[in-house]
Amino acid sequence: MIKIREMGYSYKEKNIFKDLDLTVEEGKPFIIIGNIGAGKTTLFRILTGFYTEFTGTIKYDGINIDHFDIPLNIAFVEQNTDYQLLTLSVKSELELFSNNSINNSMIKYFELNELLERNPQTLSSSEKRRVLLAGVFSSKTKYIFMDEPTADLDDHFTKILLELVEKDERTIVIFTHDKKLRENGKFRTFKI
Ligand SMILES: Nc1ncnc2c1ncn2[C@@H]1O[C@H](COP(=O)(O)OP(=O)(O)OP(=O)(O)O)[C@@H](O)[C@H]1O
Ligand SMILES: [Mg+2]
Repeated sequence: MIKIREMGYSYKEKNIFKDLDLTVEEGKPFIIIGNIGAGKTTLFRILTGFYTEFTGTIKYDGINIDHFDIPLNIAFVEQNTDYQLLTLSVKSELELFSNNSINNSMIKYFELNELLERNPQTLSSSEKRRVLLAGVFSSKTKYIFMDEPTADLDDHFTKILLELVEKDERTIVIFTHDKKLRENGKFRTFKI
């Protein structure tokens, strides 16, 4: 469970969060919605341990975020996939998520079989997104965070993503302004 209490965050001149209270319960998908520029990526970065200068408290399973073992318990997909694709092949990107074991069903779901030897920087934006989504679903972490995961996906892959999210038993938190996810009706949502 993630508990955010009285959380505040600002960039030098700009206040993004003030007294934010939010509880994310375990094992059910949770969608954080917000308009363009509302602070979704900022909250994503706070919860994945990149931004530490917040006020208030954030606890994972009762443990303060600064003591929580973030590398072992969290997997995530950034809104900008280029921030995350760092190796020379799709295969090695996938291995980063799952301790060197590739999950073949994820390769199938996201149609990556022909792309495994490719340099990630030569992929289309949809292909890059699908590599990272296959990666997070292959991970063994307790928490998964996705920032605008449908950004480059067509209806077919959006449907696959939603099916995987629905049947996954881990705690998945999605940050999005995508109406298809908002109106899906199956997931708990919180508006920032
Ligand atoms: N490093 C920074 N310095 C100053 N302001 C920033 C910085 N990063 C983000 N912001 C501002 O904070 C606000 C929230 O940004 P953020 O990227 O979290 O929004 P978002 O909800 O993810 O937007 P989008 O829907 O476009 O992805 C925006 O107005 C943005 O310009
Ligand atoms: Mg964003």
